[in-house]
Amino acid sequence: MHRDEIPTPALLLDRDRFERNLARMAAHVRNTGKALRPHAKTHRCPEIAHRQVAAGALGVACAKLGEAEVMARAGVRGLLITTEVVAPGGIRRLTRLTGEAADTMIVVDHPDNVRALASAAAEDGVTLNVLVDIHVGARRTGVEPGEPALALGRLVAEQRALRLRGLQGYAGQCAHVMGWAARRDASHKAMAPLMETRERFAGAGLPVEIVAGASTGTYDIDSELAGLTELQSGSYCVMDLDYRRVGGRAGAALTDFEMALTVVSTVVSVAADRAMVDAGLKAFSTDKPFPPEAVERPGVEYGFAGDEHGRLTIVDAARAPRLGERIEFFPPHCDPTFNLYDRVWVMRGTAVEAVWEIAARGRSD
Ligand SMILES: Cc1ncc(COP(=O)(O)O)c(C=O)c1O
Repeated sequence: MHRDEIPTPALLLDRDRFERNLARMAAHVRNTGKALRPHAKTHRCPEIAHRQVAAGALGVACAKLGEAEVMARAGVRGLLITTEVVAPGGIRRLTRLTGEAADTMIVVDHPDNVRALASAAAEDGVTLNVLVDIHVGARRTGVEPGEPALALGRLVAEQRALRLRGLQGYAGQCAHVMGWAARRDASHKAMAPLMETRERFAGAGLPVEIVAGASTGTYDIDSELAGLTELQSGSYCVMDLDYRRVGGRAGAALTDFEMALTVVSTVVSVAADRAMVDAGLKAFSTDKPFPPEAVERPGVEYGFAGDEHGRLTIVDAARAPRLGERIEFFPPHCDPTFNLYDRVWVMRGTAVEAVWEIAARGRSD
């Protein structure tokens, strides 16, 4: 099948770029002596997860239990659920999941949750692998570093049905700090309490075999931390406009990883000053303050124009779109864009090579 036969709007993955992204991250972790457990919240696609593992990843991180269930059933192992699971029904699902995929890990930040996990795991006859989630400034989840974290770690270690493996600290507030040097300062400051807590755990004889963190924005910053054992960057595999603009070590754009994800649309209506494409609010995430960007297609600027429509403002009359023309766009933010599609069309040049199901799409439960 040729690209021009794909029904639009559709999500496309440039396989060559995607594979180079996986290879670059694999080389980076190899060279810096770190492990990689990439975040699958980016793509929610087991086919991608399997390829990340084949490229050397230990497994994948999942934001939600639902994502982890889909990954486990697709045969992906080495799962780390990076959000606390506290509802009784969720805890039961977690013990069931651990029955199927014994090396699954969960994070905790509260003693009540530790006790609830321990008692459900004991009843269900499984051992849950646990990381203590440390608050490193994102004001999202995590126990305070230092003494409170140590007390929680001790509590986990006392539970017969829990196995303490180490720590997680995700400084999401640093991921998109503009400019590499400023981002490095911000991340090293944010992660210092995680490193200090790691020392306390080690000093107290608590396991720190895993200390996980990092985003795509800080992949080559947090890997400088001696105490960090693994990176959980996610977006690097496909990139997006938001990450490209934060800047890299080498320059004003983050170009270490290539833009591998696009949305292809069709021009369905033309007028003197505009053209409408069939890709609107349901085709791209809308959480960023800038619009999708046409790929190698100068002369037009995209604006959201409703659920099903995007309005192209014609800024170069000589390049006015034709009715039926196909135009590809880079999405502003990859994670929520993936979540809008059932499948991603895997492209080798202009040929469709495969279609991968985004099987955990919608699994935010
Ligand atoms: C806990 C956690 N780890 C890692 C990431 C890194 O993802 P990315 O590289 O896509 O920013 C995220 C993203 O939100 C996250 O929530």
